[in-house]
Amino acid sequence: MSSTLLRTKNVEQSIQDTEEPEHALRKSLSALDLTVFGIGVIIGTGIFVLTGTAAKDHAGPAVSLSFVVAGVVCALAALCYAEFASTVPVAGSAYTFSYASLGELPAWIIGWDLVLELALGTAVVSVGWSGYIHSLLDNAGWHLPAYLGGRDNATGFGFDILAALLVLVLTAVLVLGMKLSARVTSVVVAIKVAVVLVVIVAGAFFIKGANYQPFIPPAQPVTAGGTLRAPLIELMIGWAPSNFGVMGIFTAASVVFFAFIGFDVVATAAEETRNPQRDVPRGILGSLIICTALYVGVSIVVTGMQKYSALSVDAPLADAFKSTGHPWFAGLISFGAAIGLTTVCMILLLGQARVFFAMSRDGLLPRFFSHTHPRFRTPYRPTILLGVIIAVVAGFTSLSVLAELVNIGTLFAFVVVALSVIILRRTRPDLPRAFRTPLVPYLPVLSVLASLWLMLNLPAETWVRFGIWMVIGFVVYFLYGRTHSRLARDGGRGRPQPQGQGQGRGSRPADGGSTS
Ligand code: ALA
Repeated sequence: MSSTLLRTKNVEQSIQDTEEPEHALRKSLSALDLTVFGIGVIIGTGIFVLTGTAAKDHAGPAVSLSFVVAGVVCALAALCYAEFASTVPVAGSAYTFSYASLGELPAWIIGWDLVLELALGTAVVSVGWSGYIHSLLDNAGWHLPAYLGGRDNATGFGFDILAALLVLVLTAVLVLGMKLSARVTSVVVAIKVAVVLVVIVAGAFFIKGANYQPFIPPAQPVTAGGTLRAPLIELMIGWAPSNFGVMGIFTAASVVFFAFIGFDVVATAAEETRNPQRDVPRGILGSLIICTALYVGVSIVVTGMQKYSALSVDAPLADAFKSTGHPWFAGLISFGAAIGLTTVCMILLLGQARVFFAMSRDGLLPRFFSHTHPRFRTPYRPTILLGVIIAVVAGFTSLSVLAELVNIGTLFAFVVVALSVIILRRTRPDLPRAFRTPLVPYLPVLSVLASLWLMLNLPAETWVRFGIWMVIGFVVYFLYGRTHSRLARDGGRGRPQPQGQGQGRGSRPADGGSTS
């Protein structure tokens, strides 16, 4: 039993699977495309929306330190992701990496976890996007009925029609082809980065030194929300739950971590990259470094423009400019945020369809979903299925609690990837690695500890929700995936591992066929 649960898919087999014509994605992306792609998904709701909550409720002006903490955690994980992505350049990200190293059950767990991260992440961002569009419409004097804003507290009913429409339109764009998405993304990313730079440069003129006092507000007991809203770490060591203080910096870091989600999605596009061994590490690390610098700049400026306790939680960047009497800047920032969130949503949607696609190609989910479109070469079936589900979820949900769930899922994936780097170095030392994580095993171990630390700073109730999702995943695996897995049908052994074979891309798979 345990040998089937831990059966691994060998790396050559993973690469060969991508070359079966019916299951092949088009290889068209460069390092620059990937970096733009990364920035396109990384800068979004995290900086534009969550900065306000994190500063106001947890860290005060020290929220800039929270961004540094979250950035360091992500940089450690990125160094692990980069080695895996450059060694196993096939769709599926951490899912594929763990299938090649840890075994089928861990791979299933991580794939299931990634679907949660990316699908709910898409829903969260589309709701954030809708909020900014509402604010722009309000400025123009147009008001949608409350029940179509998803925020009608009076009747208890609401369907966020704009969020749902956004997801459906982006689903259609993705079905039509990767290249179109990348071109649209480049333009939008340029607008988004320009707006972020405007916040930093223009906002710097309105900073008041007094707003930084105190830089780390003293700890205050938590009164609202009940015990399960407290960070798990405080409950574990028997501390009274508190906000602010030094611990508040870490609590805020576990929230603004959402702002960094996305660099891992770059790895999911490895299969569509012309030279993945070289370009994927460049794309991941490049986009992460640029975004961290921008976040720290924005958070320092915004908490200097307005007292942290007065920051808005819906549109903190725009409202900081309103507070200084510059509504024109506020409108510009809202416009840029709305545009920017569009690409975030699109790339998260793309990433989760790719993970689903990879899992179905391996037989862990129905093979029906692993056929690419005959003309557009895109995984259109999972894209359409998940796009419709997410549109419905986005229509009916609000974002704060979901964002925490997305964060815990992503951090969990980081833990698995870091462990996988260590394991694959031992089990497959022969594989060529275009990028090698430095200081193995110390750096991956540090990455595991750092990710776990942020997870422990999330509320206990987030852990409970995450546990429920994973239990459902176990049930699906044992009822379906374990028996339908391609490896199970190949006799549980996978293909023999050729010794000394590099990343040859010209060979055909032995069984070459596809089933559905
Ligand atoms: N990092 C992305 C955002 O902040 C998911 O919206």
